[in-house]
Amino acid sequence: MSKKIFAANWKLNKTPEEARDFVIKLKNEIFKIPDFFSGREIMIFPSAISLEAVSSLCAGTDIQFGPQNIYSEKSGAFTGENSAEVAKALKSQIALVGHSERREIFKEQDDHLNKKVALLQNLQILPVFCIGETLAQREAGKTLEICFSQLQNGLKEINKDQRLIVAYEPVWAIGTGKVATKEQVAEVHAKLSEYLSSQGFRNVQLLYGGSVKPDNAGELLKIPHVDGFLIGGASLQPDSFLKICTAV
Ligand code: PGA
Repeated sequence: MSKKIFAANWKLNKTPEEARDFVIKLKNEIFKIPDFFSGREIMIFPSAISLEAVSSLCAGTDIQFGPQNIYSEKSGAFTGENSAEVAKALKSQIALVGHSERREIFKEQDDHLNKKVALLQNLQILPVFCIGETLAQREAGKTLEICFSQLQNGLKEINKDQRLIVAYEPVWAIGTGKVATKEQVAEVHAKLSEYLSSQGFRNVQLLYGGSVKPDNAGELLKIPHVDGFLIGGASLQPDSFLKICTAV
């Protein structure tokens, strides 16, 4: 059985000191759980400013980390952006691409996200590519159409043999406390898995994200094709993050 993936998305939270404090506490707790990493992968996405702090404590351990966003070029005159090459130099193994907040607030489009995924693959950084429908799209019965089109356009002409993670996060469930029902998650994950294999992707894991908490994680993890979670609010405290990680 493949490992379950637990990814913390800290968004615009935590100073470098708070980030270090979190990692120290997390490592102390993990240490007490025998074979913790044999069934799990742990990932942390700090804000770019706290990436070095996380790297200093996680590099060389089994805790993976990386930026919440990168630019589609490695370097150059792109004021304010994050470089994937710099993230790599800080030993990042992973990067988020196309989170719904990037898509909605910063107007990121699929073709640009596609370039980011390709660049990450080039640098051997594992992309965690986010997709998901808004409430209006779900109510209009367009959930699958939207998700498939985000996959089709965001993952064009990339290496389908290289490992990839797709995070399905219904936008209406993010930070709202409204978790998708088991039936909704089961339906979308089954269809996404079918779609990705029909498109020739051979090494993809599917995460669910959107108001995952310690008290719903166990049930959600039992759903077929749910390989783990992308967790926002409940990942900010080591104890609630760890409760989700041990719900397996
Ligand atoms: P949430 O955020 O767990 O706070 O809903 C998830 C995410 O945005 O990745």
